[in-house]
Amino acid sequence: MRDEAVQAVAGAGTLAELKQVRIDHAGDRSPLALANREIGALPPQARKEAGQRVGQARGAVAQALAGRTAELEEVEAARILAEETVDVTLPPIAEPVGARHPVTTISEHVADIFVAMGWEVAEGPEVEAEWLNFDALNLGPDHPARTMQDTFFVDPAAAAMVLRTHTSPVQARTMLTRTPPIYVVCPGRVFRTDELDATHSPVFHQVEGMAIDEGLTMAHLKGTLDHFAQAVYGDGMTTRFRPSYFPFTEPSAEMDLLCYVCHGEPDLVATCRTCRGEGWVEWGGCGVVNPRVLTACGVDTDRYTGFAFGIGLDRTITGRYDIADLRDLFDGDIRFTQPFGSDL
Ligand code: PHE
Repeated sequence: MRDEAVQAVAGAGTLAELKQVRIDHAGDRSPLALANREIGALPPQARKEAGQRVGQARGAVAQALAGRTAELEEVEAARILAEETVDVTLPPIAEPVGARHPVTTISEHVADIFVAMGWEVAEGPEVEAEWLNFDALNLGPDHPARTMQDTFFVDPAAAAMVLRTHTSPVQARTMLTRTPPIYVVCPGRVFRTDELDATHSPVFHQVEGMAIDEGLTMAHLKGTLDHFAQAVYGDGMTTRFRPSYFPFTEPSAEMDLLCYVCHGEPDLVATCRTCRGEGWVEWGGCGVVNPRVLTACGVDTDRYTGFAFGIGLDRTITGRYDIADLRDLFDGDIRFTQPFGSDL
């Protein structure tokens, strides 16, 4: 019994095998345990001798088990060490790392510029009431921008909700919920039914700005935008106003930036790709808030005036970084976003 058990212990090649050997030869139902239990039934003279022999046998088996366990544990530890060695000389496997999208970075940068002047950041929903997107902004039912051509209607049959076509409804929302003085900027996503091509996208980004206070004029608008342009593009950047028309501002202007590549220098401007020989790059629309809009949104026109602007953020990026295809901004390919880092 004893030799058989000791042999089985020595023959166990793994800790799992040894566990089975322990059950078979030293467990409760092992022959040795049974023999131990039977000692009590022997005649007294035989008990002592039998007790001694069984005790010694059990001791020997326990010792063998302990010795083999230690050996096998050592083997196992050596195997783990060998298998899990890290070869620090191997070249690393580079995991692609995500990057902040330039639209996010510029939106936050723009918000920071205005917050530094004491303005607040406002937000509005992308699915907007048609009334706020158009009517409140003096865009009557017959205005061309209200036709299906430009606007995504959420439910063409009901036509009460649209995907906002500009960030200007946030102007209306803000005036309706707050009392002047109001100074807010709102960067956000807007939607128009444009075909996707190198210079158009049905989804794009704008930043809206609106100030309502006593005595605000077009001069305040110009000064604000010049500061904004310099904060984004550096000192020396200037803006230019061209007369324009928006139903919600009067007077209205298109604002241009002095071309940030050729700076309108006579010997460079003719061949400049960024401004296509113009010397100026379009940046957005702006103007003095139309009193009809102020009235529709409950602002006292005897006391307050305001100005507003809306610029295209995507063009700000594609123009500045000479990105030929606007679609690159919306593809979600991290190879495009990575080089920007957070440096805009
Ligand atoms: N909402 C106008 C657009 O999308 C831009 C604009 C905003 C013009 C504010 C004037 C004032 O083109």
